[in-house]
Amino acid sequence: MRLSLVSAFIYVCGALAQSGSVSSYISTESPIAKAGVLANIGPSGAKSSGADSGIVIASPSSTNPDYLYTWTRDSSLVFKALIDQFTTGADTSLRGLIDEFISAEAILQQVSNPSGTVSTGGLGEPKFNIDETAFTGAWGRPQRDGPALRATAMITYANWLIADGNTTFVTNTVWPIIELDLNYVAGNWNQTTFDLWEEVDSSSFFTTAVQHRSLREGITLANAIGQTSVVSNFETQADDLLCFLQSYWNPSGNYITANTGGGRSGKDANTVLTSIHTFDPAAGCDVVTFQPCSDKALANLKVYVDSFRSIYAINSGIASNAAVATGRYPEDSYQGGNPWYLATFAVAEQLYDALIVWNQQGELNVTSTSLAFFQQFLPSVTAGTYASSSSTFSTLTSAVKTFADGFVLENAQYTPSDGGLAEQYSRSNGTPVSAVDLTWSYASALTVFAAEAGTTFASWGAAGLELPSTCSAGTSSGTVAVTFNVNATTVWGENIYITGSVPALQEWSTSTALLLSSADYPIWSITVDLPASTQVQYKYIRIYNGQVTWESDPNDEITTPASGSYIENDTWR
Ligand SMILES: *[C@@H]1O[C@H](CO)[C@@H](O)[C@H](O)[C@H]1NC(C)=O
Ligand SMILES: *[C@@H]1O[C@H](CO)[C@@H](O)[C@H](O)[C@H]1NC(C)=O
Ligand SMILES: *[C@@H]1O[C@H](CO)[C@@H](O)[C@H](O)[C@H]1NC(C)=O
Ligand SMILES: *[C@@H]1O[C@H](CO)[C@@H](O)[C@H](O)[C@H]1NC(C)=O
Ligand SMILES: *[C@@H]1O[C@H](CO)[C@@H](O)[C@H](O)[C@H]1NC(C)=O
Repeated sequence: MRLSLVSAFIYVCGALAQSGSVSSYISTESPIAKAGVLANIGPSGAKSSGADSGIVIASPSSTNPDYLYTWTRDSSLVFKALIDQFTTGADTSLRGLIDEFISAEAILQQVSNPSGTVSTGGLGEPKFNIDETAFTGAWGRPQRDGPALRATAMITYANWLIADGNTTFVTNTVWPIIELDLNYVAGNWNQTTFDLWEEVDSSSFFTTAVQHRSLREGITLANAIGQTSVVSNFETQADDLLCFLQSYWNPSGNYITANTGGGRSGKDANTVLTSIHTFDPAAGCDVVTFQPCSDKALANLKVYVDSFRSIYAINSGIASNAAVATGRYPEDSYQGGNPWYLATFAVAEQLYDALIVWNQQGELNVTSTSLAFFQQFLPSVTAGTYASSSSTFSTLTSAVKTFADGFVLENAQYTPSDGGLAEQYSRSNGTPVSAVDLTWSYASALTVFAAEAGTTFASWGAAGLELPSTCSAGTSSGTVAVTFNVNATTVWGENIYITGSVPALQEWSTSTALLLSSADYPIWSITVDLPASTQVQYKYIRIYNGQVTWESDPNDEITTPASGSYIENDTWR
């Protein structure tokens, strides 16, 4: 009896998975994905024997590849999906499991490991043994996205607890864990990191973006529970992170370069995952935070997707504006370098998120940056704003919906009849490849299905963020070239420097003050890029035999023009 029921179930799944609609795939795959996630969480998950309470294994696969470890990134993304289900009321049974995750992570934070102790960098350790001991083998470490993602998952739960009247538990138990992670983010974001694929040691768009997000929502939480001492530092670091985030945009390629190192094209699912994991429905199509419907994120999505059209045999014969299977990055060769379920689902999720915002705002913008994306669906479309009452809006949104569904159906086509989601499927024939039952694959199914249903989650504070005026990273606009000339008589061996109130003028440091040229002595001169339309204070200093002499008070001051350049002529005081 039991056996025949199981066979009937498998038969139905198989039939639907191979040829059904998106809704039929979702209705069969959704419970399988949820069960797949839960099976991989200790201590009682069906496939995670040996894992401690609250510990998420990456996959039950213990050889080729051996994923029987717990990664902070994977665990945090998986629990964020579960916490979202719990806090929105979709599954109120998850609270005990979430509390076990909190306890487990509190232990892991304190485990000394090859990256350090809790206070010397250990929070950047990427993975641990499933009995909560350190993994001491060689690995790509540190990976600085983990603490940020863990903080984001826990902040989501903390906000729910506060709304539920349980601030005590937040203040006493959850906040101390979050605070350690956010202090780590604030103190270390500007150092290199291995990327989320554990291969490239540089700076990484995904890491920068999730770090920025975690600090923003951390500031709100800290204020809500009176932990205000961290706020000013977090604000400064978040502003700097947001500036730095802009620098990944590649204006000539019209896409986001995923890593500053690595020597690849930089086209990478890293960027699409960023878009869905920093989605804030309250922020509209904000481009500064690369929201899913922002012109840059859409332009990037097209370039990323197109990079897989010709390299996978299973994508051949598919129209150039239709969905295809996608992987981590086109140059990938790991385990054969195949399509990944979580990458292909992420494309669909970004598009569903975009549709949510366009429908909510009742309009859609096409810009010169996103034109190529939209012209895939309507070659005659031009830049402009299209209200929901227009036929252009209807044409484009329905085409984007079909496009999005196509990515889900790609994965559906290559989901085996039992619904199991491995890490990859073969680029040549679509059979599952690499680790079986990848927890992150199942979690990515849960989040894309929620987005398809129009589900949104609480804002993290992306709305209305503006780039600080001192932020010039990645953009040549926003700065003006200012030449400082000062008439100063000096003795042999004595030099004139400038230091001032903005980073470009070394923020009043004398040890890193900028040396002026004496080519036109007694006029000393230097040209510096300064933020436009900004009041800047400065002084010249003389340094002779290491001895610093400041100009007399008051500080010199200029207001830089909005654009162009500016020449300031001074005489030493
Ligand atoms: C607060 O939440 C924690 C974690 O779920 C729970 O153990 C505790 O009983 C809650 N306290 C109250 C007063 O609801
Ligand atoms: C540190 O920040 C500066 C300013 O945004 C940036 O130019 C530099 O690349 C960053 N370095 C790392 C490793 O993040
Ligand atoms: C469209 O562009 C206008 C003008 O820049 C902006 O105010 C509006 O929020 C945008 N709408 C969407 C949905 O992006
Ligand atoms: C520099 O200042 C000295 C003394 O004030 C003045 O005599 C000289 O003409 C100035 N030189 C220039 C090039 O402005
Ligand atoms: C400084 O002198 C140059 C010519 O040497 C002149 O073009 C410029 O306008 C002067 N700057 C100011 C602020 O007067």
